[in-house]
Amino acid sequence: MKVTIVGAGAVGASCAEYIAIKNFASEVVLIDIKEGFAEGKAMDLMQTASLNGFDTKVTGTTNDYSKTAGSDIAVITSGIPRKPGMTREELIGINAGIVKTVTQSILEHSPDVIFIVVSNPMDTMAYLTHKTLGIPKNRIIGMGGALDSARFKYRLAEAIGCPSSDIDGMVIGQHSDTGMIPLTRLAVRNSIPVSKFVSDDRLNEVAEATKVGGATLTKLLGTSAWYAPGAAVSSMVQSIANDQKKMFPCSTLLDGEYGLSDLCIGVPVILGKNGIEKIVELELTDAEKEKMQTSAAAIRKTNGLL
Ligand code: LAC
Repeated sequence: MKVTIVGAGAVGASCAEYIAIKNFASEVVLIDIKEGFAEGKAMDLMQTASLNGFDTKVTGTTNDYSKTAGSDIAVITSGIPRKPGMTREELIGINAGIVKTVTQSILEHSPDVIFIVVSNPMDTMAYLTHKTLGIPKNRIIGMGGALDSARFKYRLAEAIGCPSSDIDGMVIGQHSDTGMIPLTRLAVRNSIPVSKFVSDDRLNEVAEATKVGGATLTKLLGTSAWYAPGAAVSSMVQSIANDQKKMFPCSTLLDGEYGLSDLCIGVPVILGKNGIEKIVELELTDAEKEKMQTSAAAIRKTNGLL
């Protein structure tokens, strides 16, 4: 299993680190445009192999896509991250050109590759990848919901006063401060609805904190977050690499599911060796359906800027 990560910045490097530590991939290639940067990150990471006990071979390259040849999975993190006060949508001007170029270069050297798109605005970048490459839809996966759901579980655990591992919950919709839909109604602590443990008001606060989870960190860090994005990507990569068929909310091209078509938006999917193996259709309430429509309209608006 060969995984290429485009962009050796904080998210790309964190992603490489988690993949290496989880020790399921034979090879990870980091590629970046900044001279020597990916090579340096890869070397630093490889010097942890004896300490952390992994056998994954991590290499770095400056813009030489021939080194990525034969990749099974390519993670696209390239582009600029947001600064405090910016929305993900504001990044479209610069990131669209970058994502278009790098996905084409990857596909040239790895015709069967499965893409995981992380660059923002992510739902639109996943859609752009479809429009640019025209490859089967199961091979383009947007990373947003897996991260947003992890943040949702963190906030729920904080509100309840329990470990995150007690919590199950999911966020669907657009990967944006306003378009995320934390499915509070379906969230549970060990099979018991979370509403048994905290008030509705507190649950609303949890949902709002989840939606601005990325923005909160951007304000604290001065740039966007990397640990949770890297961990979310690595879990998705592992489900594909090991054909685990785990379910994650991911941005995927819809074709009538959820009453939506011709856009990428976060819904639960099964990730296995073929990428997106199934889109899972949830029974949404009328209020949730309405939020999904609003979220889709926001994505379409951003897609219109392409
Ligand atoms: C975030 C970026 C990865 O939410 O979109 O942190």
